[in-house]
Parts: sequence; C-alpha cells; structure tokens
Amino acid sequence: MKSKTMKSSIRTHEGRVALVTGAAKGIGQAIALALAERGAQIIVTDIELPGETADKIGSTAHTFQHDVTKEEDWKKLFTKTQYLGGVDIVVNNAGYFPNRPIDELDLTTWRKTMATNLDSHFLSVKYFLPAMRMKKWGRFIGISSNMVGLAITGMSHYITSKMGIIGFMRGLANDVAKVRDRALARLQHVDALDGVPQPPFFSEVQPIPLFVALNEHAEEAEEKLQVLFGLRQ
Ligand SMILES: NC(=O)c1ccc[n+]([C@@H]2O[C@H](COP(=O)([O-])OP(=O)(O)OC[C@H]3O[C@@H](n4cnc5c(N)ncnc54)[C@H](O)[C@@H]3O)[C@@H](O)[C@H]2O)c1
Repeated sequence: MKSKTMKSSIRTHEGRVALVTGAAKGIGQAIALALAERGAQIIVTDIELPGETADKIGSTAHTFQHDVTKEEDWKKLFTKTQYLGGVDIVVNNAGYFPNRPIDELDLTTWRKTMATNLDSHFLSVKYFLPAMRMKKWGRFIGISSNMVGLAITGMSHYITSKMGIIGFMRGLANDVAKVRDRALARLQHVDALDGVPQPPFFSEVQPIPLFVALNEHAEEAEEKLQVLFGLRQ
C-alpha cells in the first residue's frame, strides 16, 4: 500500500472502490490514474507489484501482486480487499497478445491467452459480484479490441479471446438483469484509433471506463463509444 494524495477537481468517483488489473503500465495504468484523479479508491494489481502506478496515484492506491489466470490469486485478492468494504468497479484490463501465425501457435500459448484474457473475467465476477449484489451497485468493465473486426495475421488466439469477452459480458448482463440486481455489466470495445497505443490514444481511451463507471451515464457512454469506433452513426 502507498500513501500520498492525488488532487483533482473532478471528484466524480468519490466513495467508489475500483480495481484495475494489469495496471503496471499502458492502458491499465492510464485507467487507474484517471479513476484515482476522480476520487475513487484504487486497487491496482499486476503479475508483478505495480509500484510505478501506485507511486503516481498516491494515498488512494492499494497495490497487490495478482496473476489474473489463477483462481487462488483472485480468492486472496478478494479476502485482502475486504477492509475496503467491497469493490464497486472492476476493470478487467490485463491482457496477453503475442503474435503467432496459426502454424506456429501451440496449445500452451492458446491456453495462456484464454486464461489471461477470458478466465480472468469469469473469476473476477465469481469473487466480486456477490458483494456488488449486496450493495446494489457495481460495474464490470471488459476491454475487448478493435482487432475482432480487423484482418490482422497471427492473432487467431487473441481475436478468439476478445470475442469471448463480448459474449461473456452479454451473458453476464443477462444474468444480473434477471435477478434485478443493479450490478451492471457493459460491453465496451476499447480500440486504438490507429492501432498503435500512442499518447493521444490513451487520452481517447481513458474517459470511456470512467464514463461507464458512472451510473447515470452508462447508456450514453455505450452510444458514444459505438459512434466513436464506427459501429453506429
Ligand atoms: N494496445 C492496444 O492497441 C490495445 C487495443 C485494444 C485492446 N487492448 C487491450 O487493452 C488491454 C491493455 O493493453 P496494453 O496495450 O496496455 O498492454 P500492456 O502489455 O502495456 O499491459 C498489459 C498489462 O497486463 C499485465 N498482465 C499480463 N498478464 C497478466 C496476468 N496473468 N496477470 C496480471 N497481469 C497480467 C502485464 O504485466 C501488463 O502490465 C489488454 O487487454 C489489451 O488486449 C489493447
């Protein structure tokens, strides 16, 4: 755990506890910083302790080493974060995406891709949904990819896993809606505008999970996102 304070005048997430996986760098770090700036208490996790992200956030950061492919790690994370009074927002960001043309793709790489990019979503729900139900508020944010619609070679395993996220988020939304729970699951495609994660890309991506994490803006966010990425006019 770290302790310093990050200042922001936009405290839209005050009172929320947000967990971001794969937050040591890249998009996960950007999302964690943005949520922290807006007043959320942040749990940042990664396969190695995400120290740099925690240092940048300050006192609202709670850091854990956490391998998203391992159920035992999710169980431990759940137990260790109980003192925060439950997690309100889970951003399943951790991702694994080596390029392997189909002839070179082996079962170990295939399984690691599914475990990192997909099992993690199921495990996060298994451990964090029950408390959201009790609080009657919660968000799971899945990071898919624009690659699901592109003709890029060597990524069959990755595209499969990212399409899987879409299916899982839809199924999850069906199930939580059925029991009239207010924990919402929203599918969001987070796409690189030009396929390369340059700084402007992060500034485009950042607001989306923030927006979605706000109850009153969920519908609007989904619409904006679909327009932004050309899925709707
Ligand atoms: N970069 C892009 O252009 C792009 C585009 C669309 C979607 N995405 C998705 O966004 C997410 C973040 O991508 P990024 O570009 O920031 O990647 P990145 O490689 O910079 O960061 C991914 C993080 O996930 C962590 N991670 C990997 N395996 C893990 C595990 N088993 N347990 C815990 N942490 C683990 C890594 O240590 C790393 O810190 C991924 O899900 C990726 O598929 C990225």
